[in-house]
Amino acid sequence: MVSILIVDDSDVECTLVRSIIAKNFPDSVISIAHNGQEAFNLLAKSPADIILSDIMMPVMDGLEFCRKVKNIPSLKDVPVLLVSSLYQLHEKNEGFEAGASDYIVKPIETDEVVARVKVHLSIKQNHDELKKLNKDLKAAQEALIQSEKMSAVGSLAAGISHEFNNILGMLKGYVQLSQQKSRIEEVKSFLSVMVELIDRGEFLVRSMMDFSKGSVSENKQKVMLPVLIKKVLVLMEQMLRSKCIEIEFSDQTVLEIECYPNQLSQAFINFIKNAMEACEESSIKKIKIEYGKFIIGTDGKESAYIRFIDTGSGIPEAIRNRIFDPFVTTKGVISGGDKSKSGTGLGLTITYDIIKKHNGDVKVEKTGPDGTTMLVCLPL
Ligand SMILES: Nc1ncnc2c1ncn2[C@@H]1O[C@H](COP(=O)(O)OP(=O)(O)OP(=O)(O)O)[C@@H](O)[C@H]1O
Ligand SMILES: [Mg+2]
Repeated sequence: MVSILIVDDSDVECTLVRSIIAKNFPDSVISIAHNGQEAFNLLAKSPADIILSDIMMPVMDGLEFCRKVKNIPSLKDVPVLLVSSLYQLHEKNEGFEAGASDYIVKPIETDEVVARVKVHLSIKQNHDELKKLNKDLKAAQEALIQSEKMSAVGSLAAGISHEFNNILGMLKGYVQLSQQKSRIEEVKSFLSVMVELIDRGEFLVRSMMDFSKGSVSENKQKVMLPVLIKKVLVLMEQMLRSKCIEIEFSDQTVLEIECYPNQLSQAFINFIKNAMEACEESSIKKIKIEYGKFIIGTDGKESAYIRFIDTGSGIPEAIRNRIFDPFVTTKGVISGGDKSKSGTGLGLTITYDIIKKHNGDVKVEKTGPDGTTMLVCLPL
């Protein structure tokens, strides 16, 4: 189905062009306007695939209308065919200079109008397809770049994890030996705490190795999204309270998702930690978490959304396009940023990877001096 806009101040001309179009393009939706301004108002409501416009009209003539259309980014690719009784070369040139794609001299011939409309519709269709292909290609390129960056982080993590695992193993051996040899009970109890800490270290290193291999050591499970968020909030309660951060969260909507619960919790912790750190200097320190369902696309597919809304200082403009890249941080001595906070710049890189593993999406929905909103979408 194509939508065709006819612009002419003469009712007779409008009827003539309309009947040619209706007969030769039976699938088309035709709109009529009687001057440039009226046509412009129509286009604001519903865009057209092609426009056939007269030149001499009251209120706004065809040339001015054409120039206006070509100045609007969302309309500039719509072909405008000028249809006029002005037949001189300089008049035609003026039309092309205004941005017209073609020029038809009145009195019109049916075959000519049909042929020219066909050509321009086909050019427009090819152009639209190319534009879409370009967009898809750009998205694929971005995904590839991100995955290359992730694999660089992965190799680094794998190298460090491997060495660190060896060190921890040897350390554990010596601590256990000391435990056996020691006769002092107090020292023995200290040593058993050390073994526990080494065990935790080993677990962390194993998780890091899993991450670098791209493997997931947990199984996908069905969980209630609000329950998962609540668990994360309980885990972080102490930290949030010590920073006087107010949390707003209502778990009233029932919403079940299939996910890797530990990984998704880790992603949520990273968002809340970032929001908390951004709020530290704000007069109002508040983090609001919203969630719900929405429909994407025309096939009625449902997705879950989760928003982390903070009242922090916003993401600094210099890094806004790079926050999901590894090692991008404004915190800590190495980055030359805020020395009172510590950050590796890996939080959002890992978070991005986790959300992608869930076939979801994450983006900055809004950021500025009043705060930031991070939006996560997960397929249901
Ligand atoms: N909600 C937020 N408000 C303002 N800035 C943010 C927010 N979330 C992220 N940022 C910015 O993005 C940067 C990168 O975030 P990311 O979580 O990847 O690393 P980090 O917090 O610096 O360190 P860590 O690896 O410890 O998480 C942060 O340093 C911060 O400048
Ligand atoms: Mg962080």
